[in-house]
Amino acid sequence: MRAKLVAANWKMNGSFSLLDKMLDVFKSNLRNTSCQVVICPPHVLLSSLKNAVEGTKIEVGAQNVHSELSGAFTGETSAPLLKECGVMWCIVGHSERRMIFNESDEFIRSKTATLLKNGIRPILCVGESLEQRDSGKHEESVVAQLRKILTGFNAEDQSRFVVAYEPIWAIGTGKTATPEQANTMHSIIRKELQSLGTHEVAANTQILYGGSVNVENAKALLSQSEIDGALVGGASLKKDEFYQIVAAAT
Ligand code: PGA
Repeated sequence: MRAKLVAANWKMNGSFSLLDKMLDVFKSNLRNTSCQVVICPPHVLLSSLKNAVEGTKIEVGAQNVHSELSGAFTGETSAPLLKECGVMWCIVGHSERRMIFNESDEFIRSKTATLLKNGIRPILCVGESLEQRDSGKHEESVVAQLRKILTGFNAEDQSRFVVAYEPIWAIGTGKTATPEQANTMHSIIRKELQSLGTHEVAANTQILYGGSVNVENAKALLSQSEIDGALVGGASLKKDEFYQIVAAAT
């Protein structure tokens, strides 16, 4: 049985005070959940998050990393430094980084390798554009992303991944993939993971859905057999709503 995992992607939002309020809600309510919870705030909040979640079930995630370990990369953060901040997870391949910062599959692949070498688990995002979906090319486009990024990683590496299926047309738009659309794509992703690695690893890989997940649609999405959790953007900034999404996964 794969455990459910719900991750918050705060993007360039949030504050020290939101962190405090969020943790108040979670610390008093989270004790009995079987769901893994990861919060990915902006980097400057990571150390505070690390200290605040000690002894709780919440784990610290980052939204970005550079593939190099140090050097003249103004504004970037290395994997070893993230590790010092208590980071156990890091989002890679998010469509905003691909589109706004021109990140290629090759760069995402090298970031992924760096994360794994430094003991940080990648949350690898893949997803199709609206044009690709409308023209029936959504499956091949997601499979192509997976192949370019994951080919060549060994079974042990693969066992450290989480994949997040995030259709670009559903991110921040209020449009969600139907539970059936998402479940179908998750099965395709799992099949591809099987052919890239081993059946056993693929069977245990958590595949999250992301794209306008909210308190109204969370239960229907999370009850699908192939949906093992959610990567939540906008709704993760509202403490009670994010908590209810975690509760829906439990
Ligand atoms: P959203 O963002 O929930 O606001 O659509 C999800 C994401 O970008 O990870």
